[in-house]
Amino acid sequence: MRLRISGKMGSDLGMVVLVLGLLVLNVAVISNAAKTSTFTRKDEKSGDMPFDSDVFRPPPGHNAPQQVHITQGDHVGKGVIISWVTPMETGSNSVVYWSENSKHVHKAKGIVTMYTYYNYTSGYIHHCTINNLEFDTKYYYTLGKGKYTRTFWFVTPPEVGPDVPYTFGLIGDLGQTFDSNRTLTHYEKNPLKGKALLFVGDLSYADHYEFHDNRRWDSWGRFIERSAAYQPWIWTAGNHEIDFAPEINETEPFKPYTHRYHVPYKASQSTAPFWYSIKRGPAYIIVLASYSAYGKYTPQYEWLLNELPKVNRSETPWLIVLLHSPWYNSYNYHYMEGETMRVMYESWFVQYKVDVVFAGHVHAYERSERVSNVAYNITNELCKPVKDLSAPVYITIGDGGNIEGLANNMTEPQPSYSAYREASFGHGMFDIKNRTHAHFTWHRNQDAYAVQADSMWLHNRYWKPDDDSSAS
Ligand SMILES: [Fe+2]
Repeated sequence: MRLRISGKMGSDLGMVVLVLGLLVLNVAVISNAAKTSTFTRKDEKSGDMPFDSDVFRPPPGHNAPQQVHITQGDHVGKGVIISWVTPMETGSNSVVYWSENSKHVHKAKGIVTMYTYYNYTSGYIHHCTINNLEFDTKYYYTLGKGKYTRTFWFVTPPEVGPDVPYTFGLIGDLGQTFDSNRTLTHYEKNPLKGKALLFVGDLSYADHYEFHDNRRWDSWGRFIERSAAYQPWIWTAGNHEIDFAPEINETEPFKPYTHRYHVPYKASQSTAPFWYSIKRGPAYIIVLASYSAYGKYTPQYEWLLNELPKVNRSETPWLIVLLHSPWYNSYNYHYMEGETMRVMYESWFVQYKVDVVFAGHVHAYERSERVSNVAYNITNELCKPVKDLSAPVYITIGDGGNIEGLANNMTEPQPSYSAYREASFGHGMFDIKNRTHAHFTWHRNQDAYAVQADSMWLHNRYWKPDDDSSAS
């Protein structure tokens, strides 16, 4: 049947139909918002790669430098911390480096440290910070001495500024299984070409073994060298870095981690290596510590309180937070573990319009809507997450592929704040285009290298604070 309506009545009805249509569309958007992937996979859980695997093979030559990795060495990206291990003796603790544009060779002296852990004694762990580099420049560096020197390279970031494009990779909870190797290979082959890797905690999983077999810290260092020697990995501490084992008289938390992985925490006036910040290109990155005290009056609390007002979004529009234990997590693994930290800091993230929070810990992928839950005050019963355009997107990316396997058990029904969730191993990319737009993509290991299993265009919360939740 066809209805013919004309005149004012027709336009009124037309308006009603339009409004109803929009309402239906809106309901549809909300009800479609929460998506649990139906992607099916084999029950994934692979063991650690054996010590004699190719990926762990030490470089040839007596006492040759191994486990080479770099991270940012200052607050703005003109410094690099270069770390490596010499297994037999101290060897040289200097780095020789030069810019690809210059014949002038520089030399910097590092420090050497070592530690014991129960029945394990580490090799000689070297850390050398090189400073005052040129932005956006390729540098080569050489380690070792005699005939067993090794040469690597890295590219410094562009000068800090609002509209310089920059691409970060994201990996969490990596471990050293065959799946871990797939994740790293997928990251390396991703055509988006990540320039620096944001690592959201849980590195080697050495503590999975009896006496926290620290040889697994060494093998992990050799495993990631193929990437971490050539681009900075930005470190976040996870629970598998704590290595607290009073039963074997190892009671110094984070002992292997802090000896092996240095970060530039003093450059951001932090007093401990577990929370700090860096600027890199268009991004201001704040690293928080889920496993250091964060209550009121603690050093981390005081630092973050002073830190957030320092962020100048005209200089670094993209405010990114890394932490290990997620605040918004709808898997039945580590459920609510991030809740106390959320209660402490979430209102600050909303106040300062954090763009995105990346976490690990849960061995799966999840992306949230922009929500907050900051109205509750004990008596008012306002304890539900609500849509909030000043709130960050929360992304859990703890799916690096470690020995503990996938988190494949989810709370049901999927909460409406959860936009997409899937229990697959993979990695993420955060591709900043300019001050207003960044494209996040998640890549599962089963797909071809260029496939994006989930994606979102993020609109910057400071420069473009409109609703980006349906952007794609
Ligand atoms: Fe964890």
